[in-house]
Order: sequence, then structure tokens, then C-alpha cells
Amino acid sequence: MSALTRALAALSLLACAVGTAQADEAQLARGKYLATIMDCAGCHTPMGPNGVPDMANALHGANYGFQLPGLGTFVPPNLTPDPTGLGGWSAEEIATAVTTGVRPDGRILAPIMPWHSYGALQKDDLAALVAFLQSLPPYAYDAPGPWGPSEKPTVPYLGLVMP
Ligand code: HEC
Repeated sequence: MSALTRALAALSLLACAVGTAQADEAQLARGKYLATIMDCAGCHTPMGPNGVPDMANALHGANYGFQLPGLGTFVPPNLTPDPTGLGGWSAEEIATAVTTGVRPDGRILAPIMPWHSYGALQKDDLAALVAFLQSLPPYAYDAPGPWGPSEKPTVPYLGLVMP
């Protein structure tokens, strides 16, 4: 191989690497944008004083639950790649849970998690959303629950009060 051929080969490898890095960055930016407008942090974030979401801990999991009549009380869990969050889940498993409500253990997520609507996500958008979640800094927080309809939750919860 001549010096020129070698230099050209190195250059094309470099171009390739730069191209991939840009694609990844664009994908993560898209995922972040989708997570924002789909309001993942609106639920998967602890509530600070005065009921305002504590955005410094966005996506670290909530400290309160949603009580659904007849179903139980459900706390939005930690979405970061820590073992207490989605750390042990594959990209495929996260995508399945977000779009079909089926967790890796087979349990169906309560419908307060809007997986019915997220089922309409297009393939590339779903991949971007999952890649973004997997790129978050891991944070350790094991959200409590869920509790069955006759169990008493140990954290505050929002519920439906019949008149
Ligand atoms: C209206 C509130 C709400 C919104 C908005 C929401 N979630 Fe959830 N999510 C929940 C609740 C509550 C659970 C727990 C349900 C259960 O345990 O049955 C959950 C569960 C999950 C789970 C399963 C985690 C686990 O450990 O079981 C994933 C993954 C998830 N949500 C991802 C997302 C993503 C990604 C978004 C945004 C695109 C989002 N959620 C938006 C409320 C919400």
C-alpha cells in the first residue's frame, strides 16, 4: 500500500467515524425532544414542595403514586439505566414496555402510563427515545409499589374521589 493509499484509507475511516458520531448525537437529540413533548418527566419525577415537579431529579422516578379504582396504586419508576431503574432492561424490552405496556416479567403496566398512545410511535422515533433513556446518567432510586386495590400505599397518591 502506498503512503497515499494509506492516507486516503485513514481519511475515509475518520469520515466514517465522524459520520456515525453525528448520527448518534442527532438520534439522542431527537430522543430528548420526544421525551420532553411526550412528558415522561411530568410523571417519572419526584414532586418537590408545593407540588411542583423537582426537575433537578427529572426521570429519576416519582415519590407519589396514581390510584386507579379496582387496579391499585402505581408509582412512576426510575427511567435511568441504574439497576434500580431500567439498567437491567434491553433496548427491545424498554421499547416493548413503552409501546405495549408489557414489562419483561410479563406484568401489564397500569394504563395511567400512556402506553396505549405511545403504541403509535414510529420505529425511528421509538429507537431514539430508548437510546436517549439509555444515555441518561444512572441514578439509584427504587420506586415503591405497586399496591393492589385493597392494599394501603406507603407514599402519597393521587386518586379519583367519587362525589
Ligand atoms: C401520566 C403519567 C405518565 C407519563 C406521562 C409517562 N409514564 Fe411511564 N409510567 C407511569 C406509571 C404510573 C408507571 C408504573 C405503572 C405500573 O407499575 O403498572 C410507568 C411505567 C413506565 C415504564 C415501566 C418501568 C418499570 O420499571 O416497570 C417505562 C419503561 C415507562 N413508564 C416509560 C415512560 C416513558 C419513556 C415516558 C414518556 C415517553 C413515560 N413513561 C410517560 C406513568 C407515566
